[in-house]
This record gives sequence, C-alpha cells and structure tokens, in this order.
Amino acid sequence: MSKYHQKDSEIYYDDTDIPKNKLSLTNSEELHEIEASLLEDGYELFISELDQNTIFNEDYFISLHRRTFESLYDWAGLYRTEDMFKGDSVFCVGRAVKAESKKIFERIKGENYFKEFDTISKAEFAKKLALIKSDIITLHPFYELNGRITRLFFDLIVIYNGYQPIDYSNYTPDDYINASIDCVKYADETFMEKIILDGLIKQ
Ligand SMILES: Nc1ncnc2c1ncn2[C@@H]1O[C@H](COP(=O)(O)OP(=O)(O)OP(=O)(O)O)[C@@H](O)[C@H]1O
Ligand SMILES: [Mg+2]
Repeated sequence: MSKYHQKDSEIYYDDTDIPKNKLSLTNSEELHEIEASLLEDGYELFISELDQNTIFNEDYFISLHRRTFESLYDWAGLYRTEDMFKGDSVFCVGRAVKAESKKIFERIKGENYFKEFDTISKAEFAKKLALIKSDIITLHPFYELNGRITRLFFDLIVIYNGYQPIDYSNYTPDDYINASIDCVKYADETFMEKIILDGLIKQ
C-alpha cells in the first residue's frame, strides 16, 4: 500500500512506490542512482544554457523535468492528473494541476520572471522566492522528482541573479520536509523563507 499515490495509479509498478521506467528497474536504489546522475547532467546543461534570453516561465519549468528525465520516464515533463499525498499533506487535486500552475506562473510573470532581482536586498529576494516556492510545493505538479526539479528551478533563478545555487546544507532533510508541510498544510512559507535566506550566497 503506497503512502504517495492512488492505489490504481498507472505510473507505478503494482503495489509499489517504484515508478515504471524505460530501464524496467524495480530496485529503488539503482533507480535513485540513475536519477542522481541525470540530475547532475541536468544542472550542468541548464546552467550552461542560462543567458539574457532565459525566461523562467511555465514552459521552461516543464522543460527542466522533461529534458532531465525523458531518457528514464515516459511521463517526464507531463503534469500529473492523479491525486497525490505525502503523510497528512494533500497536494493540489490532479484535475486542477494545469490550471493552478498557470496561476502560479502568471505571478512569476508579474515579478518580471525574477529578472533583475540583483537590485533588491537578499531578504526581499528570499521572501519573493519563498512565496512562489511554497505554491509550487503545494502544487506538486509531477508524479515524482518534484523536490529536485523545484530546487533546480530556483537554483537557476538565483544563479541568473548573481547568487550561488541555494545552499540547503544548514538544515536537515527533516527541516526541509517540515518547511514543506508548513507550506502545504498551513500556507505558511516562513520556515522555507528562512531556509532560502540562509542558503543565499553571492557568487
Ligand atoms: N509530508 C509532506 N508534506 C508536504 N510536502 C511534502 C511532504 N513530504 C515531502 N514534501 C514535499 O514534496 C517534495 C518531494 O516530492 P517528490 O518525491 O516528488 O520529489 P523528490 O525529488 O523525490 O524530492 P526530495 O528530493 O525533496 O525528496 C519534497 O521536496 C517536499 O517539498
Ligand atoms: Mg521523492
């Protein structure tokens, strides 16, 4: 019985939390190793592609998931339509993901796609980032790899603005989950804001 997804999900091998994959791997450790190596390649690729013309819009966000993981997963770059939950947290219902995502990315557009944020203070930047990150965490748009792709997206935004990738190492993985729970269950992004602020370092 899964803790994450519907029982009749098409995405996972029956009665497991292992997503169906192009290598037919059913060992989660092997799968995680391959995901880690693809993510590393993704970081390298997307950082190398960053330039003045980069726009942090919805297509860009989706392309991070698709291009990083399409060699492994058929559903790379596709929003989920099934409902998902973790612990007591229920993410956006599957049928609403597309519309809710549009709303979030409209807000990013309203922030001029997070460009020229090197002109505001680090604290203000962290606050703006945390508000949007909280909503993306609550959206949980993909079946898997949401945490990693969301962190990649925000790392690219901060790198564009003259910072190093956000350093999460001041906090434990449990802290990060607790900050996410605050976002999803209580719409409270203050802990996530603190994590981001403490991890923002100028290049
Ligand atoms: N109990 C919870 N309540 C709310 N949000 C949660 C909970 N557990 C995890 N999350 C959020 O979901 C994300 C994990 O989603 P998913 O498993 O799709 O991606 P992932 O790349 O494996 O993430 P990670 O590397 O962060 O574990 C976490 O990064 C966190 O933001
Ligand atoms: Mg996961």
